Amino acid sequence: MSVYAAYSHIANNLGAPPFLPLNRDHVGDVPLVNLTGGVPAADILPYESYSQAVGRVLGNPATAFSSVSYVSPFGIQELREQVAHWRGVPVENVLVTNGAMNGIFLAAQTLIDPGDTVLVESPTFPFALNIFRRAGARLESIALHAGGIDLDELEQRLREGRRYKLFYTIPDFQNLPGP
Ligand SMILES: Cc1ncc(COP(=O)(O)O)c(C=O)c1O
Repeated sequence: MSVYAAYSHIANNLGAPPFLPLNRDHVGDVPLVNLTGGVPAADILPYESYSQAVGRVLGNPATAFSSVSYVSPFGIQELREQVAHWRGVPVENVLVTNGAMNGIFLAAQTLIDPGDTVLVESPTFPFALNIFRRAGARLESIALHAGGIDLDELEQRLREGRRYKLFYTIPDFQNLPGP
């Protein structure tokens, strides 16, 4: 029996996200700027500072164990407080995640019921699409122009009676929409 027979209906129908491997910089002879993920140039990361920070935490008995042990599921309290201060929001509103994908996953689990429609920009971050599909969402896209999504088009759709449970938007550092 194929292992896929044990997979859920949703998992079996996910398909692969439409992305290029991050290390691919050509299609045939055509050079690419791969915008699938935000990967920085290898030589601009502050390795020395990372190393010192890790060394400081692991080298201090007061912080070593707690840094590699369980913390509150909401995140390290001091970090939550710093983020709350930085963003000007109550600390109860801050949940530390393992990155944006983890945050998108939690939002999808919390907000989407099977059959709900999620509106996404086109182009969008492809890995978010399977998270929404896995929650049972239908996806609809809306064109992105230089200043954001086509609001006239959105208004038209809403007037026609279409409804969305969630709009997934990338508010800054979005990929270039092209000409
Ligand atoms: C728009 C967008 N969202 C989420 C992610 C993934 O972020 P993380 O690695 O923090 O999960 C990326 C990565 O490139 C991204 O471009």
